[in-house]
Amino acid sequence: MERKKFGKTDLEVSPIVLGTWVTGGWLWGGAEDKESIRAILRALELGINFIDTAPVYGFGRSESVIAQALKDWGRNGDTVIATKCGLEWDEKENVRRNCSAQRIRQEVEDSLKRLNVDRIDLYQLHWPDPNTPIQESMEALVKLRDQGKIRYVGLSNFNSEQMEECLSAGEVHSLQPPYNMFERGVEREILPFCMDHDIATLGYGGLCRGLLTGKFTGDETFPKGDLRRVDPKFKPDRFKQYVNAVRELKEVASGYGKTVAQFALRWALQQPGMTTIIAGARTPSQVEDNAGVAGWEISQGDLQKVEEILSKHIQSPVGPEFMSPRK
Ligand SMILES: NC(=O)c1ccc[n+]([C@@H]2O[C@H](COP(=O)([O-])OP(=O)(O)OC[C@H]3O[C@@H](n4cnc5c(N)ncnc54)[C@H](OP(=O)(O)O)[C@@H]3O)[C@@H](O)[C@H]2O)c1
Repeated sequence: MERKKFGKTDLEVSPIVLGTWVTGGWLWGGAEDKESIRAILRALELGINFIDTAPVYGFGRSESVIAQALKDWGRNGDTVIATKCGLEWDEKENVRRNCSAQRIRQEVEDSLKRLNVDRIDLYQLHWPDPNTPIQESMEALVKLRDQGKIRYVGLSNFNSEQMEECLSAGEVHSLQPPYNMFERGVEREILPFCMDHDIATLGYGGLCRGLLTGKFTGDETFPKGDLRRVDPKFKPDRFKQYVNAVRELKEVASGYGKTVAQFALRWALQQPGMTTIIAGARTPSQVEDNAGVAGWEISQGDLQKVEEILSKHIQSPVGPEFMSPRK
């Protein structure tokens, strides 16, 4: 698979990133570690060298499963691991933001241990924390960089004002915002800010939690413990809008011999300011499908067709919308 220079870093990454929230099982209705490892190994075999995780994904489980997969992979290569910090949880799995220097210092040690690495390639503040001055969090990250514990500093779910503040306290290499055909709120201000400041991006939720894979009819219900059970996008009125749009998008995708998932991920990569796109996957066959994003392009005419399909079907386009941990 092709490689892309990741903003102002020295990292050379695949345009598609393997998302491993599902690997942790938490809020995704569980996961099978053996299957997750097979999925990660399949991604590496197909040339996906960029893996995104976070401590909160299964409360350490996602990071530990990645470490096991990398051990099984056994090759020194160009694999790039991005993890995060700044969320803490209690025994009841209540998650809270905490980007204090002390929390960051503790989390980096825990992640290094779980991932079984000497240095984390990309270390991202998961969510802005209104109770900690940005200066404090950034200073902690800069120190970790100086100590060689992390290579590059990233942010996730930050707006341009917050990014501006981070930039005045240290270097910022990337932003991870929500992004897919149905969730385009970051296009107006946040992606232009990133382009202006040479901040690379990893769009998350590239498949809109599976909606853009074309596998849903709009009648599905989700088991307890699957976040789609409470996500408003999967409530009957909106769910059907998306399914109808996907039906038409599928036809455009088939003109390229591609699945709608491949088409949706490719579309995201062709949007201004989108450096890489993350797709979560729980099985090797999902990885194989999503890896088909590489090596081709959607024509200008079909990009326009996508806009027409979206404006025909999506009555109330939404901005970024995600499960926000309590402030
Ligand atoms: N920074 C943040 O705050 C944040 C927030 C959300 C996500 N993320 C990151 O972004 C990643 C991706 O986002 P996401 O996991 O929320 O959602 P996503 O990529 O939009 O959807 C992934 C889910 O869709 C299904 N799927 C994936 N590929 C498929 C295929 N080819 N065919 C059929 N089904 C397929 C799988 O779930 P099922 O098999 O259960 O349907 C998979 O877990 C996460 O793993 C995480 O790394 C970050």
